[in-house]
Amino acid sequence: MTPLEAALRDAALRTEATLEECLSAAHSGDTPLAEAMRYATLGGGKRIRAFLTLRFCALFGGEEEAALPFAAAMEMVHAYSLIHDDLPCMDNDDMRRGKPSCHKAFGEANALLAGDALLAQAFEVAASNTHVSDAAVRRAVAELGRGAGALGMTGGQYFDRSETCADLDELHSLQRLKTGALIRSASLLGCFAAPGPLPENAIRDVCRYADGLGFAFQIVDDLLDVRGDAAQLGKPVGSDVKNGTKTVLSFLTPDQAQRLAKECTADAVAAIRPYPGSELLCSLAEYLLSRDH
Ligand code: IPE
Ligand code: IPE
Ligand code: MG
Ligand code: MG
Ligand code: MG
Repeated sequence: MTPLEAALRDAALRTEATLEECLSAAHSGDTPLAEAMRYATLGGGKRIRAFLTLRFCALFGGEEEAALPFAAAMEMVHAYSLIHDDLPCMDNDDMRRGKPSCHKAFGEANALLAGDALLAQAFEVAASNTHVSDAAVRRAVAELGRGAGALGMTGGQYFDRSETCADLDELHSLQRLKTGALIRSASLLGCFAAPGPLPENAIRDVCRYADGLGFAFQIVDDLLDVRGDAAQLGKPVGSDVKNGTKTVLSFLTPDQAQRLAKECTADAVAAIRPYPGSELLCSLAEYLLSRDH
């Protein structure tokens, strides 16, 4: 196992333990609604967003316990976005993380509500982080809202459904919201969990890393939707063609798309390479280029 693989596994385990606690019967109840929330959030997923939160906190000298509630909140918002993304009125996909998607297992109404409750509870979890200052909580909660909202992931999902994406630049703007926004928020929440506040130029470098990684991440996701293996991915392939979704492959050949992902990754890495201790974050960006799930 490479140092990155070990660190990813460790971050996933630590985050999942926190998520288990956040979604326990004591905090979410024991109804089928709570079961649907746990089903969609636990036991699967690469936990990339949690990893970003934990590693950026560590990069800037923060403690893991300060970052864990923010990492869990990020994964809850991400899980909500996936539940809603799979709904029949959205991508209408039946598999997610190797099992039936939430609406297939619990019905459409329960899946819709599980997503709603996860989004709401994510704010509770972030706001209840007692290991950081009140000012840091305020910044994190505001960033979580921005990343999830109409000028973030949800806005990106809205544009994803419209037919108006005319060229690669417009696609980039859309994907910057759809996928990039939560990746940026996850990175920034890690910074906010560290003793701070960080200088403006460091925040700029973090955002440049997150933007490059986010675009490369969605390019690879789009490539995997065409040439990936559904069993490996744990979700269907061919979803974008089925839904007429514009992707990078609407404008580029697969080779050109892979090259673009490589360039975005190189830019992401260049932004944070100068920071001592950034090795794992640099390796993550490169590793995500050749992922198969
Ligand atoms: C899938 O995200 C949705 C996109 C933004 C492309 P991930 O590939 O990070 O999904 P999980 O969390 O590992 O299942
Ligand atoms: C959706 O992108 C990203 C989200 C905001 C959830 P996709 O629709 O391509 O994600 P997958 O391929 O279903 O995971
Ligand atoms: Mg989608
Ligand atoms: Mg989808
Ligand atoms: Mg996809």
